[in-house]
Formats: sequence, structure tokens, C-alpha cells
Amino acid sequence: MQFNASYRKGFASDNWSGVSPSVMEALAEVNKGHHPSYGEKDPLLDQAQEAFRKLFESDCQTFFVYNGTGANVLAVQQLLRSWEAVVAPHSAHLNEDEGGAPEKFTGGKILTIDSDDGKIKPDQVVPFLNSIGFQHHVQPRLITISQSTEMGTVYSIQEIKELAEFAHQNKMYLHVDGARIANAAVALGCSLAEMITQTGVDVLSFGGTKNGLMFGEAVVFFDKKLAAGFEYSRKQGMQLASKMRFIIVQFLAYLEQELWKKNAGNANQMAQLLGRKLAAIDGISLSRPVEANGVFAILPAEIIPKLQEAYFFHVWNESKCEVRLMCSFDTSLEDVDGLVAKAKNLMLNDQNKPSTP
Ligand SMILES: Cc1ncc(COP(=O)(O)O)c(C=O)c1O
Repeated sequence: MQFNASYRKGFASDNWSGVSPSVMEALAEVNKGHHPSYGEKDPLLDQAQEAFRKLFESDCQTFFVYNGTGANVLAVQQLLRSWEAVVAPHSAHLNEDEGGAPEKFTGGKILTIDSDDGKIKPDQVVPFLNSIGFQHHVQPRLITISQSTEMGTVYSIQEIKELAEFAHQNKMYLHVDGARIANAAVALGCSLAEMITQTGVDVLSFGGTKNGLMFGEAVVFFDKKLAAGFEYSRKQGMQLASKMRFIIVQFLAYLEQELWKKNAGNANQMAQLLGRKLAAIDGISLSRPVEANGVFAILPAEIIPKLQEAYFFHVWNESKCEVRLMCSFDTSLEDVDGLVAKAKNLMLNDQNKPSTP
């Protein structure tokens, strides 16, 4: 069969990359023969649940879903009643990129906090506490953060701990959108148990798609009581996979021999390299520190479309000529050097001398 697809690599997003070979092998293996549907009475599900308990050093309960939006929306829905609210940085995927699904499915409100680096601190949540007990206001019940953030930054373990403590002191929960949690753990050089279980996170959307899976994410509850009824809301929320084994085995392959760490390690390392090499070019600067697998840079407006022709990437903030370059598990030195060489070349061209944004 012939596909009309482009096999060019780029830096648009970490979900533009393909699937890790060992994940693909696991998919092919589990494709042999028949297997229980929906994960029901499926020994593979028990194996995966156990793998998550080991990973988080916790008696956690894990549910597999199709995608990150589904994981976030169902996690939030589980913890909110319709008169309650989730507090999030404005840049949160939940707020900006989920098409109103959180509002539709939870009936609750998202209370946002402006944050340049994509992170929030307890102090910034304090003003929302004034609403507690006031019947005319939505009741803040949940704080959500992304680790790593949409701005490429990473919360320290201490920062997560402070948010969890603050949430619990105020009868709230802490949810982490971990679409890129592997990149954050590698960046901090810590285990997932140290970052999530030991800090007191209540619920986690555990990502896989952005780090070498074909599809599939997991919702992990660290207090089983909070998971009550989740299997029903997952079905109602259309995230119960009938051929569940194809999600489960991807996670088994992902956790085996710490593939997650190896993949994120490469993505982060390539981002560091790309950041350093781009910043060394006259006329190009980084707009944010490189902390995980995203590089944010300011490029002269003239070179952006020409560079995009060679290596696709997104313009993040048009008014500042800020672009975002995401590295993946399969980003290679060649890809980094290729983009850097092209950028240098464009910068040297007289017609493309930098113009201030
Ligand atoms: C921070 C974050 N959370 C969640 C998601 C999940 O999105 P999707 O529903 O496309 O899997 C993404 C994807 O872009 C993301 O960047």
C-alpha cells in the first residue's frame, strides 16, 4: 500500500514522532489471536496495574484511557461537583486546548491564574479561598498543574509538595497533568514516586503518547477512595477502549526496562543541545530556559517560514517572534545539527538580517 505521507522529521510537537520500536513489537505480539475485551478479567491488566504500583511505590489504582484530554477531563470530573471549580494556570492544556470538554463534562468552572512560566504557587491560589462558603460563588475544590508545563518548565519536588500541602489544608485536591511527566522526572533526576507519591499528589494523568506510545494515557489515583465509580464515568466519557489490550501492552513495554526514562532522556538531551546551539547564533536568543524537551526561541521574523520549510515547528507567540521547538524520543543529533545549520545559513544571508520583532 502507498501512503501519501511525509516522513520528514521536525520539531512541531512530541506527538509528531512515531512509536518506539519495542512498543510496536508489543502491539504486534498482542495482535496474535483473541483476547478479553475492555480489560475485563484480563491478566495483562493486573500486570499493568502492578507495574504502576511498583513505579509509584504506592497502592495506587490505574485506569487506561485513549488520550490526554480524556485523562484530564475524567480526572477533574471525578473530583468536582458542578458547583465546584478547578484552579489552573491560564496556559494549562485543560484550559486552553481541550475545546471546552472540561466545562462540558464537569459542569464546573476553571479559575485561571496568569503565569509567564506556566507554573503556579500556593500564594496565587489564596485569593480564590475567599469564595469558600459563599453561596454565590463556585467553590474551589481542585488545583491542577502540568508537569512539565506547556511552557517547557518543570516544577521542583518542593514546589509540588507545597501545592499539595496547601490544597489539602484547604480541603482541595491536587491533580497533575503528566502528558510530559517522564521528561520532568528525567530533568529533575528523581523517581516518579519521589515526584508524585511522596509529594502528596491525589490524581495524575500519566502520559505516554508524547514519549513513544502510539496512543494511550492512564489516570492514576493515589487514594483508592477517590477512584470510586471511575470505571463508570470512563465508559460514560467514551474513554473505555474495547480492545483495551492494545493500550495495556504499550504501557507494559513503556515501563519495562524504563523505556520511558530512556526516551525522555533523549528528548531532553536533544533539547539542551538544540537550545545551546541556537543561542550561540548571532541574532537568535532563547526566550525561556530549556528545562525539559521544549526549546523556546526568538527568531528574526524573516527566517521563520524558511526554516519551517526545512523543519516544521510552531510559532508560539507571533508578536514576539517566539517559536517552540519540541524534541522527541527519536530526535537525533543529525536533526538538531540540520536545523541549526539551516538557521545559521538563513541568518548569514544578507536579506535575512535580523529585524526586531
Ligand atoms: C500538557 C498537555 N496535556 C495533555 C495533552 C493531551 O492531549 P491529547 O488529548 O491530544 O492527547 C497535551 C497534548 O498536547 C498536552 O500538551
